[in-house]
Parts: sequence; structure tokens; C-alpha cells
Amino acid sequence: MTQHRITRRQLLTAAGAATLLSQLPMGLALGRARDGAKTPAFIDDLIGRMSLVEKAGQLTLMASASQNGAAAAANPISNTSAVSAQVAAVKAGQLTGVFNSSNVLWHERLQKAAMQSRLKIPMLFAADVIHGFTTVFPVPLGEAASFEPELARRTARAAAMEAAAVGIDWTFAPMVDIARDARWGRGVEGSGEDVLLGRRMAAARVHGFQGERGLADPEAVVACPKHFCAYGAAEGGLDYNTTDVSERVLRQTYFPPFQAGFDAGAMTTMASFNEISGIPATANHWLLDDVLRGEWDFTGVVVSDYTGDEELIAHGFARDGRDAARLAILAGVDMSMQSALYLKHLPSLVESGEVRMAVVDRSVRRVLQLKAQLGLFDDPFRRIKPSAPSRQRLPETLELAREAARKSVVLLKNEDDVLPLRTSGQRIALIGPLAQDWDSTKGPWTLFEGDDTGSDLATGMKQTLADPSLLQVVAGCGYQKPLAGGVQEAVAAARAADVVVMAIGESRDDSGEARSRTSITVPQVQQDLLDAVAATGKPVVVVLGNGRALALGKLAPKAQAVLVGWYLGSRSGLGLCDVLFGAHGPSARLPVSFPRESGQVPYYYDHKTTGRPDPEPEKLSPFKTRYMTAPNSALFPFGHGLTYGRMEYGGLDIGDGRLPADGALTVRATISNRGSRAAEEVVQLYVHDRVASITRPVQELKDFRKIRLEPGASAQVEFTLRRADLLFIGQDLKPTVEPGLFDVWVAPSAEVDGLHGTFELLG
Ligand code: BGC
Repeated sequence: MTQHRITRRQLLTAAGAATLLSQLPMGLALGRARDGAKTPAFIDDLIGRMSLVEKAGQLTLMASASQNGAAAAANPISNTSAVSAQVAAVKAGQLTGVFNSSNVLWHERLQKAAMQSRLKIPMLFAADVIHGFTTVFPVPLGEAASFEPELARRTARAAAMEAAAVGIDWTFAPMVDIARDARWGRGVEGSGEDVLLGRRMAAARVHGFQGERGLADPEAVVACPKHFCAYGAAEGGLDYNTTDVSERVLRQTYFPPFQAGFDAGAMTTMASFNEISGIPATANHWLLDDVLRGEWDFTGVVVSDYTGDEELIAHGFARDGRDAARLAILAGVDMSMQSALYLKHLPSLVESGEVRMAVVDRSVRRVLQLKAQLGLFDDPFRRIKPSAPSRQRLPETLELAREAARKSVVLLKNEDDVLPLRTSGQRIALIGPLAQDWDSTKGPWTLFEGDDTGSDLATGMKQTLADPSLLQVVAGCGYQKPLAGGVQEAVAAARAADVVVMAIGESRDDSGEARSRTSITVPQVQQDLLDAVAATGKPVVVVLGNGRALALGKLAPKAQAVLVGWYLGSRSGLGLCDVLFGAHGPSARLPVSFPRESGQVPYYYDHKTTGRPDPEPEKLSPFKTRYMTAPNSALFPFGHGLTYGRMEYGGLDIGDGRLPADGALTVRATISNRGSRAAEEVVQLYVHDRVASITRPVQELKDFRKIRLEPGASAQVEFTLRRADLLFIGQDLKPTVEPGLFDVWVAPSAEVDGLHGTFELLG
């Protein structure tokens, strides 16, 4: 990866001004009795024998010294240590684990060193296994577009299997931050803007990583829903920026995917970098202790983000490193990542009485308990088997990567059925910087991938076409810069072709951590290339590479067909070709709204009506909630995605339209495929609460179902609504629901009417 990735946060780690906030809770209440109640006796015995330094060591996680390239590619260089120093730290009991190494021999060496330490406490090996390990799966945002949680479970399972096979016990995933501002680069790591989809994907991924046989299973990797919390609400979409989110919005929007992850059994979480309404998450006692542990009964481990505790200084919340360590541990951060501040300061903080020993013991107990659950006390080498047959990039895992790739591709438009293309008898010009760029199809979190042969679109097409000589590939321009003669070459290729496929969009480096953009359009140089190619009059199919929602107001009219291709990983090209050439129809849906213009962000479909809703979006009505140049709606809404079939929605049946307080309402609709190709449709159920004591969104997704219909076939889809589905966070900040009238839609996406009805929730 590039140099700027390595150094990007150096500026931020510069010490900030010190602000004294000494009135924070010092003598924090001890964890609940049940923490202790579940603890095996040997852990308490161990804690009784540990020195303060050994305790602080159990709460200290550092980037792997070996294979540092992986850690450094993802994080700024900070507190690195030499291999020999890291081995020595392990022997001295000063390290709980390391992260972002994939070298099983190194893991073996460190675990052997741990077995030589005084108390022989096993090491924990963590890694950012975000969208695959050596097999690269589509980025999580792309995979969310499948609207198929089971697919996410399967890819997480496969990634965990690969990771565990080299000794990894813990993944810093899934990223479950709701992301509604497409400028923010990290939306690519999550499941988009919607709470329901976010919850389902979070749960599925946790189940996938952790497996079904318990954490001690050698193929289980403990999950870490992150970043807790509201990291995606960064002001201006600027990474690491301030968030100021009301408690209601936290509870309604940002918390639920975390709760789903914990309900699915996730035993760790990561405190986010951001502050929330003035209090950094890493020092937020209310968030980490009152809510997470108190309300939700979370008994697992909270780890800081990378130097997150140290960054309390730059936030202006902690005076110095000692203060930062004190604030973080008192708030409920059990483990410090990469700053080494706990190791440095916890012993003296306990000795001085600023942090009670019981507080440290509580965190140590949680960490040891996790290690016990992972089976590491029984066999520290249970995931470290250097001579076992390789589990990397098995044929079935690569086939899954291809399936996941094709299921993530969203068809936004398809005028005159220009798609699918034919595999023979058609001359194709493949144009654009993404046509032949394997690196960019991998996406931002590929630290360990073992494949440099790649599967970009050109490669995929050559393998798919009956006669590859009918394909001409031209870059035309770079991602941001023109290429000399590029446009002319592209135009000539287009003229010589029957159809043009333009692989354009964002490079891999345009999204991910610290990859915020001020504009979310395709870079101008690529738009210019598209304009020139479109002017030839040849049919144009745009295949986007992207890690975020894009504003396609200028792009979409230039193309007959547009596919959203995200970053699809190890089998990107083949997966795209499965859809382009119709071996499999497109079945994915947008997990984020694609607005018309950049200036609309943050844009999300479940916004409020406001007091002046726009009655006729196509017209410029004065004094209404709209922009002067664009209506307040998406160009391609959340949930949108076409198929190669022709779906008709009809036969809405909501019974007597009355939902008893303790009962259920069945909503049925009939979906028919009037087209000539089989297709998979994602049928969506939306609801709107007409009047409530807290204003409610214009619509909210309540359920969805993916169905396959052969040509001419129909199917009845049935949804069940209960009172619990209609809960919202009331004036008292508690979940509530109020009787009254609701709109209901069964629709192919948000913001289209589909089938509309009303029902009444009875008191
Ligand atoms: C990111 C985390 C990641 C950690 C370790 C941080 O910069 O915010 O998501 O898990 O680095 O690589």
C-alpha cells in the first residue's frame, strides 16, 4: 500500500492542549457480580498471583512487531517495537496479545515465549479480518447489498476459518457503524444507512466469525462489533471528527446493530475514536459502563481503538498519558491498543489510589475469561498448527468469493435491455481506469491477501468471452488525472465496438479509514472520459468501482446501463461477468441511498417529513423542504436494484388492517415475473407512523425477503408485523409504541410507492 497510508495519523497523535476534567468518576462501581460468578476459579487464583505490571500487561495489546508491514499499512506507525523486544515483553508478562500478523510461525514463537513467562498466560492474536483473510470477499457495504445475511454469515465463517488456521483468535470486525454521510470513507466497512439491515448483517457476521460450536472451537474467531459508538456520525463526514448525537438518536439508530451483535454472542467491542457530544467514547463511562454493561449485560472485553486512549490528550480531555490511562480504565476500556499507556501508568495509578485495584482486576478478569472461552488455557496452540494442511484460498472459498461478488452487484438502470451482454458475436470496448486494476478491486482492508494474480474486469471478461479477441481494453485516463492521448484512444475503441463497458469510479484508496471526500461524484476526468465515449452514440454500460454511495446526477444519463460494482475482492472480475453476461441475474439492492448531488449528504431514506414536506419533487415549489437545484430525494433510493426479469407487485392484503396490541398483522403481496428471464427480487416492507409523540421517519424498513421467480411465475410474500416492530424511543428515552394509524408499503425500494395500505395499531 501507499506511503501516505502509513503516516496519515501522525499529525493527530501530536499532543493536544490539556484540559482538566478532574471531576470524572474516580471510584467507579465494581462490575456486576455475575462477571465474577461466571469466572472459573483458576482465573481468580491467577489474578491473586499477578503483579501489577503483569496485570497491566494483560490489558496491553500491540501491533505485531513481525510482519509489521500489515499493521503499518492499516495504521500510522506508533510505538513499534523490534521483534526481539516484543518476544522479551511477552516473556516478562507485559503483553496480552498482538494484532495484524498472519505469520503462524511468529504466533508460535510468541506463544512459546508466553509459556516461558512466570504465569504462562497465553497470548491472544487479533487481526482486522474485515472482508476476508487470504481470500478477499466483497467489501462489507457491497456484501450488504446482497440483502442476504446468510451470505454474510458464510463469508465471515470462511474468513474466520482462514484466519484461525494461522493462529488468529480475534477479529476486529464486524464494523457495524450506521453510516449516513457518504463523504465518510469508512462507510465501506459497514452495512450502510439502515438500522434493520445493519442489525441483521451484524448478527450474521458475528455468527459467521464465531461459528456455531463455541469460542473454544479451533475455527472460531471472536468477533468485535465496532466502533462503539456513533463513529459514522462524524460531522461533515470527516473521519475522526466530532459527533453530536442525541441520546434518542443513539438509541434509535446507532445502538441497535451493536445490540444485535452482542445478542448474537460477540464477546468484545472497540471504543470509537470520536467524541459524542463532548465526551470521547474512550472515556465515556455512561456509554461503556452504564449502557453497555449495565443495561445490556455485556460481560466481554472493551478494547480501545488504535491509540484511542492516548488521543484523549489531543481531544483536550486528558492532561497527559497518565491521565488518559486513568480516564479510559475508569470509563470501562479494559484493554489499551497500541499506546502502551496502561502498561506505563496503571501500576502507579493503582499505587497512588487514583484507580482502585478492583477496577484493574475486573478488566483483567474479563480478558482472562475471554482467553479461557477461546480455549487458550486448555491449549494455547489450538489455532497454531504450522504443519497442518493449508486452509487458505481453498477452491470452495474462492467459489464463495465469486458467489458473493455477483450477489453484491446492483443494477441501477438498464435501458432497452442493453444488459445482459452476449459472450459471442459482440465487439466490446472495455474502457476506464478500473478495467485493469486488480489492486483496486480488493478494497481497503486487505492486509493479508495471498493473491496477486487478481481478477479485475478485463481478466474476468477474457475468461468469459467465447472469443476474447473481440475485446479491446483501454484505460482512457487515470483515477484523477488524464492520460496523454487516453480520450482519443478510448473514443476510437468505442467506435470500433458494438457496446462499451466503462469501468470507472473510485480507486481502492478513495475509501476506508481517513478517506473522507468532499464530493461524492466520479472524478471529473472520468466523467469527461464517459462524456466523450457516450458522444460516439454507442451503447454504454457503466460498471462502477466504489466504496460509498455516489451522486450520479451527471453520470447516469450518459449510460444505458449502470452497475454498482463496489470492490468485490478475489473473484471480482468473474463475479461481475456472471452478471454482465447474464449467467446470473443481478439480485442486489442499494444499502445506501445514492443522491443526485454531493450537497445532499447526509442523505438517508428514513428522514423526517419536516413541517414543510415537498409535495411535488419534480417542481420547484417555494418554501418547501428541497434544494433550489434538486429535490430532497435520492436519484437511486435505498433498496433500489433492478433484475433481468420484470417484476409486478399486486394483491396487497392486510386483512382487517387492525394490529392488536398483543397480536400480529399479516401483510401479503403477490409478486409476478412478467419478463423472460428468471430473477431474484428483494421484496421490502416499509412502515410510517402517522402521528406520534416523537416525530417519526417518512418510512422505515421493517422486513425484507429475497425470492426467486422463473419467467411467468408469481409468488405470494408474507410479512408479519407485531407491536415490537413499531417501537421507537419515546420522550422518556425508553422504547415505546403508541396506538394509531400507520402507512404500510410492500415495495421494490424506498421512495417508490409499491403497494400502499394503512393499518391501525390498537391500544
Ligand atoms: C481502526 C480500527 C482497527 C484498528 C487496528 C484503527 O485505525 O479504526 O478499525 O481495528 O486500527 O488496525
